[in-house]
Amino acid sequence: MAEAAPFLLRLNNGVSSMICVLLLLPAFLRTAAASSSCRSYCGNMTVDYPFALRPGCGHGGFRELLYCINGVLMLHIASGSYRVLDIDYAYAGLTLHDPAMSDCYSLARSPDGLGNGFEVEAWRAAYLRPDPDNVFMLIGCRPDSPLFQGFPAPSRGGRRHLPCRNVSGMGCEEYYRCPAWDGEGQPRAGEAAYGSPVGPPQCCALEFGAIRAINVSKLRCEGYSSAYSLAPVRAAGPGAWAYGIRVAYSLPADQEGFCGACQATGGVCGYDQETNADLCLCGRFNSTSNCDSTAGGAGVSAAGIKLYFIFIILYL
Ligand SMILES: *[C@@H]1O[C@H](CO)[C@@H](O)[C@H](O)[C@H]1NC(C)=O
Ligand SMILES: *[C@@H]1O[C@H](CO)[C@@H](O)[C@H](O)[C@H]1NC(C)=O
Ligand SMILES: *[C@@H]1O[C@H](CO)[C@@H](O)[C@H](O)[C@H]1NC(C)=O
Ligand SMILES: *[C@@H]1O[C@H](CO)[C@@H](O)[C@H](O)[C@H]1NC(C)=O
Repeated sequence: MAEAAPFLLRLNNGVSSMICVLLLLPAFLRTAAASSSCRSYCGNMTVDYPFALRPGCGHGGFRELLYCINGVLMLHIASGSYRVLDIDYAYAGLTLHDPAMSDCYSLARSPDGLGNGFEVEAWRAAYLRPDPDNVFMLIGCRPDSPLFQGFPAPSRGGRRHLPCRNVSGMGCEEYYRCPAWDGEGQPRAGEAAYGSPVGPPQCCALEFGAIRAINVSKLRCEGYSSAYSLAPVRAAGPGAWAYGIRVAYSLPADQEGFCGACQATGGVCGYDQETNADLCLCGRFNSTSNCDSTAGGAGVSAAGIKLYFIFIILYL
């Protein structure tokens, strides 16, 4: 009896570990195959789908966009480079910082136009766009700025239609109360500034959608600021606003389901570096649908099954 127990135990161990191996092997083959995970880290930030730091990873619409430089995550688009302060995967938002933009405590302005503003390559516009709750405040724009010219459809009384307005409760009237404006002598009277003989306002606030490209020098402005509000409760006063650029990211509807289906079969989502089309990375093969599909990977799947049986035979 006393002798039998260890034997039974050993047998039991052997059987259960064999069952374990048999159960885990397919998963092992699959994950080993797809072990080149595309998730990466930069500083304390996780870079995951649709973003990626490696070519071929993530979604093609976000290729050549993020770079990790000495632990600092940077975003690069046509208008310049920005520091990424946050990636909000739950709400599909990015928070960017442009060191050359003004905030409540300092105005950054130069006759040539300071700061990146925000503009993406035409092909990328479908994927990345400032949030409608983000206000851009253009500072020191010249009277001949396109901001004050090209907006026809005078609403009433023949007044020129200006795009300047409050966005999500944030606007220039409030921004002028910031310490940054002390001694700047801006026209504080809001209404007097709009289309009056006094000239254009020192600050013009607008939503990105109003002009679809914030190019500070093209708009003939000296600088800009940007703030956003996320909470349903408005931040009290411009000193409490969050300064930065809040960008919403999205995939076209017809490309939304691809990654979920790929991941469900153990794949990692990527894209073809030549065509930029969606690609499910299954390790030993790449699929244009998912890792269970035979299309493009039938031979390799068969090899995987053969390997699985070889393992079992070796074990026995
Ligand atoms: C990362 O660290 C910075 C400070 O170093 C902090 O402000 C920020 O909230 C952190 N971000 C995340 C996502 O943990
Ligand atoms: C699959 O695609 C990725 C990304 O384009 C590439 O790096 C990898 O070499 C491809 N693998 C195979 C087996 O073709
Ligand atoms: C912004 O405008 C300037 C001057 O018109 C131009 O040279 C520059 O290419 C523009 N930037 C972008 C990102 O289009
Ligand atoms: C913007 O909001 C401020 C303060 O709430 C208000 O005084 C001002 O009239 C508004 N400006 C415009 C252009 O609506």
